[in-house]
Amino acid sequence: MNVLITGGTGNIGSRLVIPLVRRGDRVFVLDVRSQPNFDSPEFRSVNMITGNLSDRATVLELVKSRKIDSIFHFGAVLSGSAEENPYEAWRANMDGTLNVLDAARFGGAQRVIFSSTVATYGEHASRVLNDDSPQWPISLYGVTKVAGERMGVYYHRQFGLDFRAIRLPIILTSHAAVGAASAYGSAVFEHSVLKGEYDFCVNPTTRAPMLYIDDAVQSFLDLHDAPSQKLKRRVYNIHGMSPSAEELEHAVRARVPNARISYHPDPLKCSIVESWPCQIDDSEARRDWNWQPSWDLDKTADEIIGLLKHELENK
Ligand SMILES: NC(=O)c1ccc[n+]([C@@H]2O[C@H](COP(=O)([O-])OP(=O)(O)OC[C@H]3O[C@@H](n4cnc5c(N)ncnc54)[C@H](O)[C@@H]3O)[C@@H](O)[C@H]2O)c1
Repeated sequence: MNVLITGGTGNIGSRLVIPLVRRGDRVFVLDVRSQPNFDSPEFRSVNMITGNLSDRATVLELVKSRKIDSIFHFGAVLSGSAEENPYEAWRANMDGTLNVLDAARFGGAQRVIFSSTVATYGEHASRVLNDDSPQWPISLYGVTKVAGERMGVYYHRQFGLDFRAIRLPIILTSHAAVGAASAYGSAVFEHSVLKGEYDFCVNPTTRAPMLYIDDAVQSFLDLHDAPSQKLKRRVYNIHGMSPSAEELEHAVRARVPNARISYHPDPLKCSIVESWPCQIDDSEARRDWNWQPSWDLDKTADEIIGLLKHELENK
């Protein structure tokens, strides 16, 4: 199978490359950056195309000429960066998504898997959300992701495109995504181990839904591979854990006792993150494609801190 990952040098995309290459898929990556965030032997067999999603001709030609079967559409300007560069975010997230959907439609790709986000819910949302809870995002990033979801569902109804999407919570990893308001969830591990200190940009009580990156990668594979007849909807919530910043701090302190951790909440970042739901009902993903997270906070903290300590020792 020929698979395209947009944003494929990013945190999630560069990890998804590994299982796809291992199972024999021919993997193409389209990204403005050619250096993967997570390097691996598998990434060396990727066909790397350095280009911009907003360049319609590039995206359409790529999908058609390489006979792409499935597209994992991860390329996007993330939440914090979108507030700083709204026009760039609009071009990448809105024009880029339209280009991907049209490339699939006209280029013959059957399936598009889209990475949406809990940031599509707004500050008046109830604290427990299901797949059909109202989406009134307060960030530009969230606005563009709601639009991407709706466009995908429209292309499914109108043109029969097999569009599938996951609303991800904050992703925890050893190196935080640059430009995400939610980066504190990963950055507290990264900075505490590598620099010995971390200053939270949110309140100790700020609580948000999170997921270890390996669970996110697995969720995209599982949704991609799920038989069509099992899917009762096109867009699914998934959930892992909901730690407060203080609980993250404790998880770090238990493993890095000398880390100096402080709090200087940034009002803009707090307002974005605190507008997100804490509890997410992911029962439909569990029912339709057997979604099941494997990583809790302790296991995640052990893994991330182990990886970072190994990195530090090998510097
Ligand atoms: N990391 C999270 O916490 C999180 C949470 C919810 C949803 N998501 C979504 O998951 C997807 C992947 O996120 P990630 O954590 O890997 O982020 P990331 O920033 O590491 O990856 C995104 C990639 O998109 C690329 N990109 C940005 N604009 C582009 C453009 N115009 N053309 C081509 N490439 C472009 C970037 O260079 C980057 O490599 C994104 O769509 C993001 O919105 C992430």
